Amino acid sequence: MTTNTTDTSVKTPEKTLLGKAALVTGGSRGIGAATALRLAREGADVAVTYVNGKEAAEGVVRAVEALGRRAVALRADAGDPEEAAAAVDAAARELGRLDILVNNAGIGVLGPVETLSPADVDRVLAVNVRGVFLTSRAAVARMTDGGRIITVGTCLTQRVSGPGGTLYTMSKSALVGLTKALARELGGRGITANIVHPGPIDTEMNPADGPHASGQAAVTALGRFGAAEEVAHTIAHLAGAAYVTGAEFSVDGGHAA
Ligand SMILES: NC(=O)c1ccc[n+]([C@@H]2O[C@H](COP(=O)([O-])OP(=O)(O)OC[C@H]3O[C@@H](n4cnc5c(N)ncnc54)[C@H](OP(=O)(O)O)[C@@H]3O)[C@@H](O)[C@H]2O)c1
Repeated sequence: MTTNTTDTSVKTPEKTLLGKAALVTGGSRGIGAATALRLAREGADVAVTYVNGKEAAEGVVRAVEALGRRAVALRADAGDPEEAAAAVDAAARELGRLDILVNNAGIGVLGPVETLSPADVDRVLAVNVRGVFLTSRAAVARMTDGGRIITVGTCLTQRVSGPGGTLYTMSKSALVGLTKALARELGGRGITANIVHPGPIDTEMNPADGPHASGQAAVTALGRFGAAEEVAHTIAHLAGAAYVTGAEFSVDGGHAA
């Protein structure tokens, strides 16, 4: 009988990310801000990007620092190819290393397909797809072996429960392919790539008291919106998981069930 010496024990979530450095794009509010705080609570230093919310991003920095971790806020439009990549370099420089990338920044332009303009298509693809690709590409060059790439998709890539989401869903579906291909390409370095698909989450993008909220809650099995912290919980889990890659995770209250 052979003895398996591989350590398969599950570590406690407390401080499993001590000594790690993370970049969360779009970390000034919503799911990104909740993720930055959750990663910091588990021990990581954190850089966040923003475009308009300088004060909010600085508030996230102060909250991370209050947890005893280092933090930096970087203005970087994910839709600008140079800024997207430069944010990775700045985060790695400021924090001294880069272990975790959370591709969270995203925009939704919704509406009947015939109302969506070429400019809408260009902007959504620039932020939601090209930005994620270029940020990931820059991170791969900077990242330590054993790093983590976690991308935020949407439950709509798994089940489209109503009209208006053609462009947004198309853009987020590209991230599933990117995630699986990155997982294959980076596995030799122990770098994992996974995608998390939130359902309706109560943020400024999609407030739980907004005009379309009740319909969205009704198509989940749990009958409610999720909180940003509930998505952050799964992202943080993936940040600490070494043997999970190329996988999709629904945090959608059963939207896809
Ligand atoms: N909320 C939902 O129901 C839901 C469901 C499924 C998926 N998602 C996805 O989850 C992610 C976060 O959504 P959220 O609800 O937290 O959104 P949110 O409340 O609108 O927050 C978006 C964050 O992204 C930043 N951001 C926006 N455009 C950016 C750009 N071009 N470059 C860099 N940062 C940018 C914003 O920064 P500023 O400070 O500059 O505004 C903000 O920090 C998105 O990818 C979204 O598609 C959300």
